[in-house]
Amino acid sequence: MSAKRTSIHGQWSSRWAFILAATGSAVGLGNIWRFPYMAGESGGGAFLLLYVVCVLIMGIPIMMAEILIGRRGRQSPVNTMRIIAEEEGYTRQWKWLGIMGVVAGFLIVSYYSVIAGWVLAYVFRAATGSFEGGDPEAIAQMFSDLISDPERLLAWHTIFIMMTVAVVSRGVKSGLEMAVRFLMPALFFLLLVMVGYAMSTERFAEGIMFMLRPDFTAMKENFREVFLNASGHAFFSLSLGMGAIMIYGSYLSDRTSITSAAVLIASADTLIAILASFAIFPLVFTYGLEPAQGPGLIFVTLPIAFGQMPGGVFFGTLFFLLLTFAAWTSAISLIEPAVTWLVENGGISRIKATAYTGLVAWILGIATILSFNHWAFPFTFAGVSKENGIFDIIDILTANIMLPLGGLAIAIFSGWLMSRASTMDELKVKENIYVSWRFVIKFLAPVGVTIIFLNQIGIL
Ligand code: TRP
Repeated sequence: MSAKRTSIHGQWSSRWAFILAATGSAVGLGNIWRFPYMAGESGGGAFLLLYVVCVLIMGIPIMMAEILIGRRGRQSPVNTMRIIAEEEGYTRQWKWLGIMGVVAGFLIVSYYSVIAGWVLAYVFRAATGSFEGGDPEAIAQMFSDLISDPERLLAWHTIFIMMTVAVVSRGVKSGLEMAVRFLMPALFFLLLVMVGYAMSTERFAEGIMFMLRPDFTAMKENFREVFLNASGHAFFSLSLGMGAIMIYGSYLSDRTSITSAAVLIASADTLIAILASFAIFPLVFTYGLEPAQGPGLIFVTLPIAFGQMPGGVFFGTLFFLLLTFAAWTSAISLIEPAVTWLVENGGISRIKATAYTGLVAWILGIATILSFNHWAFPFTFAGVSKENGIFDIIDILTANIMLPLGGLAIAIFSGWLMSRASTMDELKVKENIYVSWRFVIKFLAPVGVTIIFLNQIGIL
């Protein structure tokens, strides 16, 4: 039987609207801020290689599973999990998977918004020529001044949450879809301009090779850390494991092919991460900066480059603007599951639901703000040393634990619990493609995620 439900929240106006929105969710700070700094810390090409393997064996199959479950249930991830589980003859307690996703969404958006706030602050700094001269010490000082001032961080965090709430409150078609239709092409264009500039710098080839040539000796030395970072980042970057892609799938027409959409979204996401690193590392090498800088990479090293290059005000503003767009279209997907759940179960309007969700995210964000100043404390977790207490704990808890765990549950649910008839009914692919998907989702993906966990707790 084919489930012919409709979503009370609306539907995308076309297949492309879905692909743009899901790509908008996937492409975010993860691609332009997190990917380059992680790659920089983990030996460039080696990180990219492991990352691509994780996308292929876990990312794409789990994304397909999320879309198909979402489209079949056509409700918030919490209610969708409950309905589909009951329909397949299992306990309604699967709703807890949806609830964990909502919690993960709140945790991620709370810090995501703070970092996006730094980006907003840097749009203005770049535009007013604050980087001019490119004195490395002054620029590093500028960054630490910003993150050590909770009031300024709070102001930018507030603005970003309000931008996110403004879009989500307008609903699927006139909010989410309108935003991505304009922002995604703009983002891609701005990124190409940045890569174009990087091509004109002296050390372009070196920057590219840093990303393309895996340094296997470095990889062997700290394989565990590189692998953990790459696998956690695959979930984070593809927006998997917490219901964001599931809720976007619930607005998708029955006629659209899930397989080709998932392949397109994952390829676009990876392409943009690679392009971002092609825009960033040539500048890092040309201006003699440090690739293994950590989270400050684009806020400390790039402004030095912008301050020294011709047309730096223009390119700097462009860069932080494109990053704002990327963060914005991701943040909306992080709160959409919570908003739809509130609308369905709380019986309130979307506008109210969005306002409450935004308020909770805003309050949680204060913990991240303080972890860069008053509450900062260094700690070591799973062999990795971190400096910013709560921020790092939330980042590790979500990207390295909750998202892979959510992904594992989704793989098991769609591979082992859902009947062949219902998954085939959604995927509607040729037998050989279906068999490959089913094999990967039943065996490879769960084993992959389990290896990540055993690694995490130090057993492997
Ligand atoms: N994928 C986004 C990025 O790379 C962040 C994001 C949006 C996300 N929605 C998500 C991460 C859901 C995990 C789960 O920046």
